[in-house]
Amino acid sequence: MGFRIASLFRRKDITRLLGEMDGGERLHRKLGPVALTSLGVGATIGTGLYVQTGFVAHEFAGPSLILSFLIAAIGCGFAALCYSELASMVPVAGSAYTYAYATLGELLAWIIGWDLILEYAIGSSVVASGWSNYFEAFLRGVFHIELDPRLRSAPWDYHMATASFTQKIVNLPGGGTGMAWFDLPAVIIVALVTIILVVGIRESAGFNAAMVLLNIGVIVTVVMIGSTYVDSSNWQPFFHESKGVRGVTEGAGRIFFAYIGFDSISTHAEEARHPQRDLAIGIMAALLICTILYVAVAAVLTGMVPYGLIDVDAPLSSALASKGLRFAGGLITLGILAGMTSSLLVGNLSQPRILLAMSRDGLLPPGLFAAIHPRFKTPWKSTILVGLGVALAAALAPLNFLADLVSMGTLFAFVIVSAAVWILRITNPEAPRPFRAPWVPFVATMGILVNGGMMFSLGPENWLRLLVWLVIGLVIYFGYGRRRSALAREAAA
Ligand code: ALA
Repeated sequence: MGFRIASLFRRKDITRLLGEMDGGERLHRKLGPVALTSLGVGATIGTGLYVQTGFVAHEFAGPSLILSFLIAAIGCGFAALCYSELASMVPVAGSAYTYAYATLGELLAWIIGWDLILEYAIGSSVVASGWSNYFEAFLRGVFHIELDPRLRSAPWDYHMATASFTQKIVNLPGGGTGMAWFDLPAVIIVALVTIILVVGIRESAGFNAAMVLLNIGVIVTVVMIGSTYVDSSNWQPFFHESKGVRGVTEGAGRIFFAYIGFDSISTHAEEARHPQRDLAIGIMAALLICTILYVAVAAVLTGMVPYGLIDVDAPLSSALASKGLRFAGGLITLGILAGMTSSLLVGNLSQPRILLAMSRDGLLPPGLFAAIHPRFKTPWKSTILVGLGVALAAALAPLNFLADLVSMGTLFAFVIVSAAVWILRITNPEAPRPFRAPWVPFVATMGILVNGGMMFSLGPENWLRLLVWLVIGLVIYFGYGRRRSALAREAAA
């Protein structure tokens, strides 16, 4: 029973991957370029823009938040070119996991698949708990309804400075204090989104498109109204007074969270009508739209309010309110809820598709993760399982504990995807590439350096958390997937 290190690096070749697309239970091909772009924008705009923007301007970057957004966009741009090339070459569900399997071998593919759980499922938990904060504000502001405070948040607070947890104590309606139980609105929104996702990809895409239109409409309105209140003296000094130029790069690592999601389009390869062409269009278009909106919002926000006075919890609505525009507050909250709902929807849509790809390869139990609903044609069992996991994390874990870990996981995936493009150019130079990233290896190298650099700006405690997560994944791989992998069984036979 010899253990062969080489077996950990077994690769799936491209011809085999493409051949697999024809057989077995497949998903419905329903999505065109507009639906794909809209899924990308829907996944991307959410808590990052509506919450983190204020925090990053206030704590790290000041008006140079505009540059932080641009640096993060450049890192994403290099990764987007690489994702587009791979998605057009290997248009099967699974995204970075599948690309890694074709280039770096099984062990790294497993690591990246496990890592993508951070991006999608844990990312969705962060969005659901942000959604809950705004929903509660909406209920209070518009309907004057107060939820029981014990049902509004996770039972623990996380303190970044000391890396410690304390019990969350809330004021009770009848007087006195008590411990928070769990975040009920977050659980409810995850349950609703899960139902939509089980019913069908077309229904999900239609619902997402409506949310995205509302969201973009609100952002454009905020920028237009806000720009008439910009006072250019607020852009001086341009850099954060205590952080200086360093604040720009630290800010980029933190604000990167806002861009997470455009790459999720690559997980819908199997449902795209013309994957070879439309995935690249969707990925690039979604990133471009988000970058323009983000830079515009950053310029307007820091121009309206001196950065030291920006509200870190609800920066946009507070900035408008500070100019006497309270009516806009309700409208914005509605747009924010729509934006976060679509972000949640696409996160929970993408995760089961990655698990599906991993289970088809034998690395996860296929009975659970590869089951396609006979009528709805969706991976229904894993969609429900992902919904349960996301709801549980959102109900019980503090938002700030999870957010940076999500960024670390995603940046790691971007680094691997950039490397994969370069490797495939060497190992499979002749394979058809309907979309070719320009200037490889320069673009791939920059994808590795800029995204890797942002990982460093997130600090050692986040590296440690990523490491712990990956070690858990390795235990599962060596306990289950290594022997059951389809390639391992073929080799044994
Ligand atoms: N980019 C997504 C958000 O900002 C995850 O909510």
